[in-house]
Parts: sequence; C-alpha cells; structure tokens
Amino acid sequence: MHHNPALYLLHRRLLEQVDFQKRILCIGAGYVGGPTMAVIADKCPQYRIELVDVNPERIRQWNSDNLPIYEPGLDEIVFRNRGRNLFFSTEVARGIEESDIIFVSVNTPTKTFGQGSGQAANLEYVEAVARLILKHAKTDKIIVEKSTVPVRTAQALQRILASGASPLHFEVLSNPEFLAEGTAIPDLLAPDRILVGCMETESGHKACDQLSAIYENWVPKDRILRTNVWSSELSKLTANAFLAQRVSSINSISALCEKTGANVHEVARAIGKDSRIGSKFLQAGAGFGGSCFRKDILNLVYICRSQGLTEAADYWEQVVRINEWQQDRFVLNMVAEMFNTVANKTLTVFGFAFKADTGDTRDSPAIRICQALLEERAQLRIVDPKALPYVESDLGTLKGVTLCQDPYEAVAGSHAIALLTGWKQFAELDYRRIYNAMEKPAFLFDGRNLLDHGALFEMGFNVYPIGEKPLRHF
Ligand code: NAD
Ligand code: UGA
Repeated sequence: MHHNPALYLLHRRLLEQVDFQKRILCIGAGYVGGPTMAVIADKCPQYRIELVDVNPERIRQWNSDNLPIYEPGLDEIVFRNRGRNLFFSTEVARGIEESDIIFVSVNTPTKTFGQGSGQAANLEYVEAVARLILKHAKTDKIIVEKSTVPVRTAQALQRILASGASPLHFEVLSNPEFLAEGTAIPDLLAPDRILVGCMETESGHKACDQLSAIYENWVPKDRILRTNVWSSELSKLTANAFLAQRVSSINSISALCEKTGANVHEVARAIGKDSRIGSKFLQAGAGFGGSCFRKDILNLVYICRSQGLTEAADYWEQVVRINEWQQDRFVLNMVAEMFNTVANKTLTVFGFAFKADTGDTRDSPAIRICQALLEERAQLRIVDPKALPYVESDLGTLKGVTLCQDPYEAVAGSHAIALLTGWKQFAELDYRRIYNAMEKPAFLFDGRNLLDHGALFEMGFNVYPIGEKPLRHF
C-alpha cells in the first residue's frame, strides 16, 4: 500500500477531510502499540488512529508488506485498516497536535545504569513523551499510560504536564495492557478485562468515561474495570508477578519430581482441578522468558525495597532466582547426562524465541542456555522459524553457532537436541529420520515437554523431559 509517496499524501489529505469522531494517537509502535491500535482501528472505523515512533525503520516496516513484528492475525487487520483510519508515521509533534487522546506505549526497560541498575524501570522514554506532549499540545488531551510503569508514575507525568505556563488541561489515565505475545490479537479482541485507572476527580472520571467508550465498541461493559490510578498501575505489575510466580512454583516442583519419581504433569493436573488454584500457567519448562516477567518483577522488588519492605522484596525476587536456577539446571543436566562433557559436540537447539508463535527473543531462556553451552565449548546449531535474525545480537557472537532453517540438516551428526521453544512445527517432525541422522547415543532434552517421550524412547533416543523420570537406554 502507498508505495507512491505523492499518492499517499493525496490520500491522507482526503482523509483529513473525513469527519472522524475522535483522533487517537499512540506514541510507541512496538509489540503493544501496534497490535492494540490495529484492533481499535478495526473495531472503531469512526476514529482516526495514528501510531508514531522515533524509530523510522520501524515505521517504514509498519507501512510495508513486512510488518516489524510477527503476530498471528496481525497482518490481515493492519492491511485491512491501514490508510483508511490507521496510519503510521514518525511525525510525533504533528501527531500530538492533532490528537484528542494519546496512548503512551513506549518501552520501559530495566535500568542498566545508576541507582536501581538491574532492577528499577528506566522511565526516561515515558518522561520524554510527557515533555513532548507539553511542548507540542495546543488543545486539552487525555494521556493514557499503556506502558507498564511503577506505581505512582502517573503522578510524575501529571506534574511534568502541569509544569509549564500552558493553560491546557492534561488528564492522565492508567490503562495497562495484558496481551500475551503469540496470542495478542485474540487477547485484544476478547480481553478478560480492560483496566482503567483514573484520578478521583470529576475530570478524571470524565476522561475514564471517554476511554471506556472506546473499548465499549467491542468489549462487554462488565469487563471494563475502573479503579484509582495507583491500583491500576500496581495491578499490572502484580498480574505479571503472579503469573510468573506460578511458572516458578511449578518449575520448583518439577525439580523435586525428577528426584522422586513423581510426574509434574500429573501433579499439575491434580492441583489444577482445584478451582481455587486453576489449571492454567502450570506448564513446567526450561523457564519463563519474554520482555516483561523478569523486568516487571524486578521493578516490583525495587519498589518494595525502596519502601523498606525487605521481606516482600525478597519474596518476589525469589521468583526470578528460581527461573534462573531452572535454566541453569537444564544445562547442568545436559552436561551431566552426556558423560560430563559437551566440548566440541554438536548440539541442535530447537527454538530460540521466548515462546511459540512469536519472533521475539527478549529475555528468552534460550539465550542463557545457549551461552552456557557455548562456555562448555559445544558447537550449536540453532533452528527457529522466526527468531534466527536475533541470535547473533542476543548471544553477542556467532562463534561456535550455525543458524539453520532446516531442522533435518541441523541434526545431521548432532549428539543431542535441546528443545527450548514450543513451536508446533517441532512436534510435527519425523523423529525417526532425525534419530537416524544423529550421532549415537542420541540425546533429546525436551525443555517444553512438547514431544511424545515414550515414542521417542522406542525409536532409540535417550529422552529427558522436565519434571519426569528420564528415559535412558543405559
Ligand atoms: P517495544 O520496544 O516493542 O516498543 C516501544 C516503542 O517505543 C519502540 O519502537 C521505540 O522506538 C518507541 N519509542 C521510545 N521512545 C519514544 C519516543 N520518545 N517517541 C516515540 N516513540 C518512542 O516495547 P513493547 O513490547 O511494545 O512494550 C511497550 C510497553 O508495554 C512496555 O512498558 C511493556 O512493559 C508493556 N507491555 C508489553 C507487552 C508485550 O507483550 N510486549 C505486554 C504488555 C505490556
Ligand atoms: C505475559 C503475560 O501473560 C501477559 O498477560 C502480559 O501482558 C505480558 O507478559 C507483558 O506484560 O508483557 P508474554 O510474556 O507475552 O505475556 O507470554 P506468556 O504466555 O505469559 O509466557 C511467558 C513465558 O512463560 C514464556 O517463556 C512461556 O514459555 C513461559 N510459560 C508460560 C511457562 O513456562 N509455563 C506456563 O505454564 C506458561
């Protein structure tokens, strides 16, 4: 679409004349901003939605046939609405000027410098956006915090926005996003809940009504929760902490299962039937990854500690420690089972993304695990349908690493397979063919418990699930 810039400008000018009910801007066209705004545009043709980003390459990709992120169902929605009521641009200042409601979905990574380094959230991008809004706004605005931020960030934003001589009114709302990557589109189309936090003032409640009205175009009203701003901000960190905690809890039990002959699937099923516990998010594996769990828990830990709540901080920090331990345990087990050395052995890694159906590798367990295996001087062949372009920058090197598109080529002469991402494709491979192509004894470490372990054992593999007795031929 719009390969011709002149045509694009003309098209845009024509659209300017269309009387849109609301003009919505989203600053930050990433994993959250992109899919969220695409869905709003799709569900609300009466609104004009624009995404802006400081990264021109990202915007170019959003305007091309190859979108910058992979998310099932996203392409169709973007292609269907782009140029109609969904626009992507780098013109942040103009975007601010023209909009009534501004979503802020810039990145809030863990700080890597100064006070709180390694734990606190780096709020420089969020703050920069507040200053840009103050500078360029010519009318009142509702500012929506979509990024995940520490509790009370809205206050800082409100103070910056009120710091100028400007007579304009800026109302800050908190509206955290709960989508998971790989299922972003279904999550956005049918969210469990939408959370809107506002200041407890008349203008706060009015702004809340306006934001809710957007979601009411497709989300049932009883799923739109209203809270005060601080509860909303804190609920986002808490939700991620609870989710990650469940994974670390079941992973800690998986280690005990391996020692005792209990089976972690059976345990998960048995406890999950208790409606108070629930069955989701009890899948043991090689650890959780993704851009947010670790970051958000460490942020929570930092906030607790800075409020003097040492025990609460230690409690949540342990969720991250268990996750690292689970990944380290995986590597130790590989080395121990392969006769205490993997030096110069070829190991095939199935999956590098942090979960299936995404190309995202941020904080992927595969990074830590591959780095540890490279330190053991193994030769790695890495297979992933979407994530190969990021391997080099994530590992800091391609020394000792071969990137492979074809899993069958990758396994030829390989001593072991380590399955780290639950891509469906990996479950559908011809493992007899794979077994025949590998060095013997052939080892398979299933870090996602994805495969049929009994069948693999029958074929001749030595199989190592997570949280279950290994199936060895010796
Ligand atoms: P991302 O890095 O993919 O996207 C953020 C974008 O903001 C980048 O493209 C960056 O260039 C842009 N940006 C930074 N400063 C800017 C500025 N001043 N002006 C314009 N653009 C600017 O990040 P993401 O994964 O979309 O996450 C965004 C926020 O949402 C984070 O706070 C994250 O914790 C939260 N979140 C993420 C997910 C997820 O699944 N990734 C889910 C829920 C919440
Ligand atoms: C997570 C939350 O699920 C979202 O609600 C939240 O919005 C998002 O973080 C965020 O704030 O960024 P996401 O990280 O995209 O979403 O993906 P998840 O499905 O939560 O998986 C996270 C990690 O946990 C993956 O590495 C996955 O393999 C692992 N996991 C998940 C398990 O090991 N076991 C499970 O049972 C579930």
